[in-house]
Amino acid sequence: MSAHRFRRVAALLAAAVVLSACTVQLPITPAPVAGEEMAATAEAATATDAGQATSATDGAAEIACDGQPTPAQTEGPYYTPNPPQRASLIEEGVVGDPILLTGYVLDTDCQPIAGAVVDVWQTDGAGVYDNAGYRLRGYTLTDDAGRYTMETVVPGEYPGRPPHIHVKVQPPGGTILTSQMYFPDAAANARDGIFNPALILEVQETANGLTGVMNFIVAP
Ligand SMILES: [Fe+2]
Repeated sequence: MSAHRFRRVAALLAAAVVLSACTVQLPITPAPVAGEEMAATAEAATATDAGQATSATDGAAEIACDGQPTPAQTEGPYYTPNPPQRASLIEEGVVGDPILLTGYVLDTDCQPIAGAVVDVWQTDGAGVYDNAGYRLRGYTLTDDAGRYTMETVVPGEYPGRPPHIHVKVQPPGGTILTSQMYFPDAAANARDGIFNPALILEVQETANGLTGVMNFIVAP
């Protein structure tokens, strides 16, 4: 019911950068705890259909926005404060298929928000978090058009969770939205206690590799 609201933004795909090939094995990191986040209360607050979608524009591109705030989800146990600012989480030793995350941060009037923090953390492609350092952790800021981009890898499954990417989005001086992003066609989605189909990335195979699009709509 909700996936259609996050339509493809063609201009974003054109902005996809060439992603480097994934590299070799990750050094030793702590194994994830089985059942992480499963104790969390299900927050499958299915977003209601706004009925009358509105949209903002960025030049020729129409940005999908219905004014309904992006559903919040649990932070989980693996957030590490004070991550570095960077445009790419891909570095030597990171396992996984490259993907470019991109989209807009918008307010509930569908106006793009410049300078918003988009803070991402996730497992590598093998389902392993780095809880000792900042591998696959970092934040970026939206540009003047409210757009963010972050190079990363497709996360793997680990016990109790489907592939997912954690995110905190914060407009300048605004409230933090904590949520998660999921992948389409992951069988484990259906077995997850907090999975919300409204949070599925729109994944596209482009000439430059995988792109995952998610717009975040945040309350003031
Ligand atoms: Fe997680």
